[in-house]
Amino acid sequence: MEASSSPASGGRCVSTTAWAAGIPTERVDCVVIGAGVVGLAVARELSVKLGREVLVIESAPTFGTGTSSRNSQVIHAGIYYPPTFLKAKFCVRGRELLYRFCREHEIPHKQIGKLIVATGSSEIPKLNDLMNRGIQNGVDGLRMIEGNEAMRLEPELQCVKAVASPASGIVDTHSLMMSFMGEAESYGTMFSYNTTVIGGHLQGGQFHLHICGTKALESWDGRSVLRPELILSSRLIVNSAGLSAPALAKRFNGLNTRDIPASYYSRGCYFTLANIEIPPFKHLIYPIPEDGGLGVHVTLDLNGQVKFGPDVEWVGVIDDISSFLNK
Ligand SMILES: Cc1cc2nc3c(=O)[nH]c(=O)nc-3n(C[C@H](O)[C@H](O)[C@H](O)COP(=O)(O)OP(=O)(O)OC[C@H]3O[C@@H](n4cnc5c(N)ncnc54)[C@H](O)[C@@H]3O)c2cc1C
Ligand SMILES: *[C@@H]1O[C@H](CO)[C@@H](O)[C@H](O)[C@H]1NC(C)=O
Repeated sequence: MEASSSPASGGRCVSTTAWAAGIPTERVDCVVIGAGVVGLAVARELSVKLGREVLVIESAPTFGTGTSSRNSQVIHAGIYYPPTFLKAKFCVRGRELLYRFCREHEIPHKQIGKLIVATGSSEIPKLNDLMNRGIQNGVDGLRMIEGNEAMRLEPELQCVKAVASPASGIVDTHSLMMSFMGEAESYGTMFSYNTTVIGGHLQGGQFHLHICGTKALESWDGRSVLRPELILSSRLIVNSAGLSAPALAKRFNGLNTRDIPASYYSRGCYFTLANIEIPPFKHLIYPIPEDGGLGVHVTLDLNGQVKFGPDVEWVGVIDDISSFLNK
């Protein structure tokens, strides 16, 4: 079979098997692609709980450099998702498991609670909807409070009504990821950094991943055939490549691409409140959610740093190194 050309990347992407002659192959029971919080948690579960042999492949020089270290570090209560969504179920259950994990593993965290606020009466119906949704999702402790009660809790706040969510909290995501990683490693999980999965194929009931050093990718001209340096065969693949996951899935020959969800990217910034000694807020404070996000909110971290963010800017084109995959 001959190498086929990938219409998506512009470059020729090798997707059949004859070209594989001469490329070294390895076999491993399970491969986890991406060492973000999801990949690390999965690797820990597979190795610590299920005793499987696991290799984590990460394109960056270390774990947790992607979205997992660029977020609000909030332990969400599970209010927002439509009750029929798995996210609603998993967020509520995941929160309980996460608090327990943090307690048992001494991960810095704090259940500081959160206020979702209506700043004008026109927002009250939406606040009621959120409250009802949270109750339907099984979030405990939710309370609708009047503006003056909310402002007693938070004197710097201006609002007419608020939903108080005592189950919400914050966590040090780096410590959390370190803990997942450390446990996985002590149960034999191997980590391969600076290593990128560039595609794969299904053959004989096995996945065969095409692997390249990230360095080789960075110096790739984008036109020539990018030959993998290694082919890794595995019984179980977990694609936890974060923002690249859907694009990467499209590069698995033999996988039904119709099931791969479309990607819509947006970019956001956080703004740090500088030069303060005492944080002006004690709770997380969120507005009514907006299109594309939860709205610019007040986040507090465990060091008392206050941030506002993220804003939302929809982006059409991805032009960093990940563009190789994100087409
Ligand atoms: C602005 C913002 C705020 C958020 N706030 C919160 C919050 O407060 N609480 C909360 O629970 N969630 C929050 N989230 C969501 C949460 O951060 C993400 O769901 C989570 O971090 C996703 O983790 P991940 O492991 O899937 O992805 P990532 O952390 O992005 O990890 C994916 C990894 O895969 C690697 N990779 C990619 N492609 C390849 C490849 N081809 N080969 C090898 N490796 C590859 C990447 O280098 C990366 O390290 C927020 C998200 C955003 C964007
Ligand atoms: C990964 O690459 C970086 C920069 O290219 C380098 O500094 C680092 O030592 C490499 N790490 C590993 C584990 O190879």
